[in-house]
Amino acid sequence: MATASSTQPITDTPTQELGFSISQGVNWSDYITYRPIYPTSFFERIYSYHAQKPGSAWSVAHDVGAGCGIVSSILATRFDNVIVSDPNDGYAALARKLLVEEASLPESKFRFLQETAEKSSLESGTVDLITACECIHWTTPDDSIKDFGRELKTGGTLVITYYTRPLIEASERTVKAWLALWAAFSQISRGGLYDKAYYIGNNGLDSLEFPEERWERVKRVYINAQGTLEAFAVNDRVGGSMVKEGEERVWVEDDEDWRHMHGIEWFKAYLATWMPTTPVSALQGFWDELELALEGKEVRTRTPLAMVFATKKA
Ligand SMILES: C[S@@+](CC[C@H](N)C(=O)[O-])C[C@H]1O[C@@H](n2cnc3c(N)ncnc32)[C@H](O)[C@@H]1O
Repeated sequence: MATASSTQPITDTPTQELGFSISQGVNWSDYITYRPIYPTSFFERIYSYHAQKPGSAWSVAHDVGAGCGIVSSILATRFDNVIVSDPNDGYAALARKLLVEEASLPESKFRFLQETAEKSSLESGTVDLITACECIHWTTPDDSIKDFGRELKTGGTLVITYYTRPLIEASERTVKAWLALWAAFSQISRGGLYDKAYYIGNNGLDSLEFPEERWERVKRVYINAQGTLEAFAVNDRVGGSMVKEGEERVWVEDDEDWRHMHGIEWFKAYLATWMPTTPVSALQGFWDELELALEGKEVRTRTPLAMVFATKKA
């Protein structure tokens, strides 16, 4: 039986402000350059979950919280039609520009919508697969998951994914300096919007609930977490678990697709893609310590990733 901790209600509280907006400092060009690229294996996991179901259809995919359309562009290679939605001003238009004008993908394949995960304009029972990648923590998940259930056809697939900051695999001093930097950044990213995002992301999406009357085949995959949800915890704002008996939990370790080599300049640029964008000078002492610990070298990183799959029941 799922239980929520006393901290759980915060994830259910709608916030007025939209997360990951231009006013918080989003720069899509930096996002594309410094965030991890979704590898082929990421999409293979999605497709193999969807394909295992008898009669699975590949007609309509909906990429929710699509941002500039990175995931949508790959879905377009497998699905006849892709709905690309995002509520922040200008993002659906940017996705259209990148996918249709720059990548020359056929416009007829796509529909671009400015709307939230919680309340979509799509007709009920019309979507085969929904992806909500790196965005559920900016939404009110209970409302979003309810609306996803409304949009999906019976037997349709919901995939929610979240990767957190990479962990460094190097000297103790380097590891400590990197974690101290994130602890300091966490003090800056406080308030309703950020607190809620951390409560959802910090436990590898275990705070997401899939009511049994609407969902089945719930499968939670934790990649590169080394057997513990602590890998996802950037700070102590951790939500309670809503994992139910009978849900499948899979741990995948040492996934090379989410392991890289990085040095100080990348670490600085990467942190700047997290909201609110924080200048290096605001955390100068922490950056200095990390730079000293790195001794001019690149070190191996490992990004923890959670992927949650669910199927809409009849
Ligand atoms: C980190 S970006 C992820 C973009 C893309 N899905 C990806 O994986 O690269 C987070 C996205 O969530 C969107 N977002 C914020 N609030 C949302 C809401 N209530 N419903 C849906 N998306 C939301 C933001 O506009 C932003 O584009």
